[in-house]
Amino acid sequence: MARAGPSLRPAGVGVISAVDGRFDSTLLRQAFGCFPSGVTAFCGMRDGVAEGMAASSFTTVSLDPPLVSVCVANTSSTWPKLATLQRLGLSVLADEHAVVARSLSAKNGDRFRDVDWTAADSGAVFVHGATLWLECAPFKRIEAGDHEIVVLQITALAVYPDVSPIVFHRSGFRELLPAI
Ligand SMILES: Cc1cc2nc3c(=O)[nH]c(=O)nc-3n(C[C@H](O)[C@H](O)[C@H](O)COP(=O)(O)O)c2cc1C
Repeated sequence: MARAGPSLRPAGVGVISAVDGRFDSTLLRQAFGCFPSGVTAFCGMRDGVAEGMAASSFTTVSLDPPLVSVCVANTSSTWPKLATLQRLGLSVLADEHAVVARSLSAKNGDRFRDVDWTAADSGAVFVHGATLWLECAPFKRIEAGDHEIVVLQITALAVYPDVSPIVFHRSGFRELLPAI
């Protein structure tokens, strides 16, 4: 019987395809970059110091219990610090936060120097001007290749529906536009 389905043949201009696992990490990054996402700031207070990182791998997981997840690289030096905390803040960044997103991913220097942030009594850290704040407790950690899937349970939230989120797409920051 013939194998069903497309042969990943080019369907338009600018198509890049690879089969049988013959792609490298550069092409895979390019492929993943086609999927637009929001950007979150994933932050908490540790020994009186704000720690955190930008994370675009945020996704919603479950309504009952209320769960979300973030995928963190095994190479991250920030995640082991956040992983010890009882509460973490997830801020869904706004369209004005491109510089904040870059700052919260910087390898060197004070990531929070130019970020307008606040810490809740719980120790969760939030970025001002975000479209959503989620205070979360650790729920489950799952090994997944070169990343860890971090599942978090929402303990409190604040929604700012009038704030437009920033979009991360093909390594760049964009703003939402109505499609029709
Ligand atoms: C827009 C954006 C999204 C990012 N998303 C993730 C992510 O989902 N997971 C991750 O591990 N790192 C992500 N990073 C990289 C981290 O923010 C950070 O640079 C990385 O963890 C290295 O720093 P660290 O060693 O302090 O953790 C992202 C960076 C940017 C700019």
